[in-house]
Amino acid sequence: MSKLRCVAITLLLLLVLPTAFAQKRETDAAGHAWWQHAVFYEIYPRSFADSNGDGIGDLNGITSRLDYLRELGVDAIWLTPCYPSPQVDFGYDVSDYQNIDPMYGTLKDFDDLAKTARKRKIRIIMDFVLNHTSDQHKWFQASRSSRTSPFRDWYVWRDGKGPGQPPNNWISVFGGSAWKLDPATEQYYYHMFYPEQPDLNWRNPAVKQAMFDVTRWWYKRGVAGFRLDAVNTLFEDPQLRDNPELGEKNAYGDTEQKTVYNSDLPEVHTILQELRKVADESDAVLIGETWTEDAEQLRAYYGPSHNELQLPMDFMFTMINKLSPPDFRKQIASAEASGGWPVYVISNHDIRRSYDRYGDGKNNDAIAKLLAGLYLTLRGTPIMYYGEEIGMENNDPARIQDVQDPIGKKGWPEEKGRDGERTPMQWNASPNAGFTPGRPWLPVPASYKTRNVESERADPNSILNFYKKLLALRRKSPALLDGTYLPLNPQDPHVLAYLRQSAGGSVLVVLNMSTTSQKASFDLSAQGLGATATPLLTSLSTGPGTFSLQEMELAPLGAYILQVGK
Ligand code: NOJ
Repeated sequence: MSKLRCVAITLLLLLVLPTAFAQKRETDAAGHAWWQHAVFYEIYPRSFADSNGDGIGDLNGITSRLDYLRELGVDAIWLTPCYPSPQVDFGYDVSDYQNIDPMYGTLKDFDDLAKTARKRKIRIIMDFVLNHTSDQHKWFQASRSSRTSPFRDWYVWRDGKGPGQPPNNWISVFGGSAWKLDPATEQYYYHMFYPEQPDLNWRNPAVKQAMFDVTRWWYKRGVAGFRLDAVNTLFEDPQLRDNPELGEKNAYGDTEQKTVYNSDLPEVHTILQELRKVADESDAVLIGETWTEDAEQLRAYYGPSHNELQLPMDFMFTMINKLSPPDFRKQIASAEASGGWPVYVISNHDIRRSYDRYGDGKNNDAIAKLLAGLYLTLRGTPIMYYGEEIGMENNDPARIQDVQDPIGKKGWPEEKGRDGERTPMQWNASPNAGFTPGRPWLPVPASYKTRNVESERADPNSILNFYKKLLALRRKSPALLDGTYLPLNPQDPHVLAYLRQSAGGSVLVVLNMSTTSQKASFDLSAQGLGATATPLLTSLSTGPGTFSLQEMELAPLGAYILQVGK
């Protein structure tokens, strides 16, 4: 071969190879990434389905329920941590990032789950606990062994201010000082959460490398992305300045602080940009557990050029605990203005279930449908929490001796812990709601006899059937998936209404958030639309075939999703 030909072939290969090996980005005709149209469903593995009768859910249990999830219409499941763990924080204390805890199964079970899910077009998102490890992780064991250990700097160690005095005033989210003195080396280590969850030192490049490699390892196993735990707490002020105190005491008796020196430090964003590059190699999605004060603060987590988290969770709805159209309107407007793709969440394993938070005790089912009609019809990606689709209620422990979650033991009775929102999924009316043939790790509420998947499947007006219809509608509606969001009647104190409009059609959403009938009228002529609408889905068992938009009669707590023509 001539020298020239050789050079030409090498150049060609250099040009072609990177493209050939780069992961193909899956987009729709309008250029949307898969995660923009997907509905995510959070599973708390301990509580979803128990296949071996030990009273604790497991991966094989989840696999056995994938058909249900397909039938429901979700596209991706987020599994809260199922890695080996001493379970002090029910898996959020990881002792090995590259394995499965035997209580949940094996890596082979994981591979089976991934394979079966793939066949049903369901993606798997793992939970990445990157702020801290378990104190039983081999890195921490090595780190605490001596001040000169090569792993010493993998965690945050400091001398105390004086005898018996921690390095500064920072408090743990779970109560007490965020510093623990380790007698072996007479230094304090930092823990934002339990003392059994020491914080990793993200300023150490070796930590970064090891943790990035963990994500690569899971991507190769077929994982479609990660939910990043406690992501705003990765960095601490190097000078360890005291946080300003706020005055009020929390449930653990600590004085509340403004966490300016141990949360949301700018360095977090550099790490997220690097982590995103790794995710992009696999067309994976990064979802953030991003607790921020407002949507404006949330904006930073998308990154300056959309190069950080694709889906930073917006928790603002979880802080509106009443059916208040003005509050929802305001939050939707700020999510829309953030310039990123919105991410809506109404409950999760750390928050009281939405059924109780919004429910008034009399109309809870209608309210659950109303909420579904809201967060599943907005522009953005919704993240559901298991059981939300059947209207599962919180089942708080009645006595301190029944509490499993350590924060509930510590903060009782003001803080009862998070057991209530983590109870077993209610599958049917058999003992323990069909979750386990054994003794469940948390009790199911008495209401499971009627509130379960099987009985709701059979009832055309159930919350479950409303969710199913809504998810099916969303999947095929270009307006709901991609359309613009236009708030309507912005002064109405009772009715939240908006138009979702795309080239593929226009959908009007009208939600009567009051318990009395209301009237509403809409003039959509400026949007090129007519004065009548036909129902795509309503929360009522009967209703008119056509609505006049000049005068709509709205049933108490009614949810209306309507198609409007030209
Ligand atoms: C947030 C998780 O959602 C929560 O359950 C956990 O206790 C803390 N992070 C600590 O990892």
